[in-house]
Amino acid sequence: MSFDVSPLQIEARVSLREHNSFGLPAVAQTLVRVRSDADVRRVVDHPELGRAPKLILGGGSNLVLTRDVAAAVLKVEIAGRRLVAETADAWIVEAGAGERWHDFVTWTLEQGLPGLENLALIPGTVGAAPVQNIGAYGVELKDRFHSLDAVDLVTGRSVTLDAGMCRFAYRDSVFKHELAGKSVVTRVRFRLPRPWLPVLGYLDLERKMAETGNTSPDARTIYDWVCAIRRAKLPDPAVIGNAGSFFKNPVVSAEQCRDIIERDPEIVHYPMPDGSVKLAAGWLIDACGWKGKSVGRAGVYERQALVLVNRGGASGAEVVTLARAIQESVYGRFGIRLEPEPVIV
Ligand code: EPU
Repeated sequence: MSFDVSPLQIEARVSLREHNSFGLPAVAQTLVRVRSDADVRRVVDHPELGRAPKLILGGGSNLVLTRDVAAAVLKVEIAGRRLVAETADAWIVEAGAGERWHDFVTWTLEQGLPGLENLALIPGTVGAAPVQNIGAYGVELKDRFHSLDAVDLVTGRSVTLDAGMCRFAYRDSVFKHELAGKSVVTRVRFRLPRPWLPVLGYLDLERKMAETGNTSPDARTIYDWVCAIRRAKLPDPAVIGNAGSFFKNPVVSAEQCRDIIERDPEIVHYPMPDGSVKLAAGWLIDACGWKGKSVGRAGVYERQALVLVNRGGASGAEVVTLARAIQESVYGRFGIRLEPEPVIV
C-alpha cells in the first residue's frame, strides 16, 4: 500500500485580492492549497476543516467578494494535461482543475488537437470551466465535454461525472446548485471530434472572414481571431479588474419579445431552438445609457456594457450597488430582470 504523508498547506488570514479577477479586497480566514485528490481527502478528514463550510476557488474570475470569507477557501491548484485517447472519431484530452483555461487551450492547439479554439482567452481555470459551462463564439464547454473527476467533500470519495450528470445549461451546471461547495472538481476531460469542423457562425467571426478574405480558416487562425476579438472588446483583468459578462443574456418568451420589439425595434435578439428568444443583455444595458458610467469606484466598461469593471480600489459592495442600479433601470424600461453571472459572496 502506498500513501502520501505530505501535510496540507493551511494558511491563515490570506488576502484574496490577488485571487479574484475583479481585484476586490477580502480576507480568507483560512486558505488551503489543494494540489491533488489526496489533498481534498485530507481536508475531508481534517478535524476542523472537515466540518467547516467551504468556498472552492479556481482562478476567481467569476466571483464578486463583498466581504471577508469565513468559509474555508480551497484554492484548487491541481496540475497536469495529457492526451488520454485517440480514436477514429475523437481525441480525448484531460487537464488538472488548477490549469489556466487559456494555457490549456493553447497547449491543445500546439499538440495539433483542434476543437477548443473558439473558447480561447477565457479567464479562469479548467476546474471552473464546467461550473458555469463557459461559452463563446458559438461553442459551449458542454459541446466538447467528455467527463470530469471530482471529490465529494462529505465522504471524500472520488466520482466521475458525465455530461448528463453535470446538467449543463446556459452558464449553469449542477455545481452551481446541489453540488455547490460540496464537491471539488479535480480533472476535466474533453472530447474533440474528428474530423475537426470549424464553428464560424458567430457574427464577429463572419466579419473576420469578410475582412481577411479567408473563408476556410484553420483552428489556429480561429484561435488568433477569437483572441483579437476578445482583446478589442473585453478588458484584460490583469489591467482592469472585471469578471467578464456580469449578467446572463436573458431568455424570454416569443410573445414577450414581440412586445419589446414593437417598442424597441433595434433590440439585439436571437431565436432559440425551443421557440424562446435570447436577448443581448449588453444591448439592454447600453440602451439604458449605462455604458462608461460609474457608481463609486465601480463602472460599466466603455466598450461593452455587459462588463462591470473595478476603476481602482472598488469594494464588492460598490460593484453590487452598481449591478442593482443597472437591474432596476433595465427592469424599469424593459420589464426584464437581469440575472448576475458571477457568484456573489
Ligand atoms: N451590444 C450592444 N452594446 C453593448 C454590448 C453589446 O449593443 O454595450 C450588442 C452587440 O452589438 C451585439 C450584442 O449586443 O450585437 C451581443 O454582444 P456580444 O456579441 O459582445 O456578446 P454578448 O452577448 O455580450 C456573450 C457572452 C460572452 C461571450 C460572447 C461571445 C454571455 C453573458 N456573454 O456576450 O461571454 O464571450 O457572447 O460569444 O453569454 C462571459 O460569459 O463572461 C463572456 C464574456
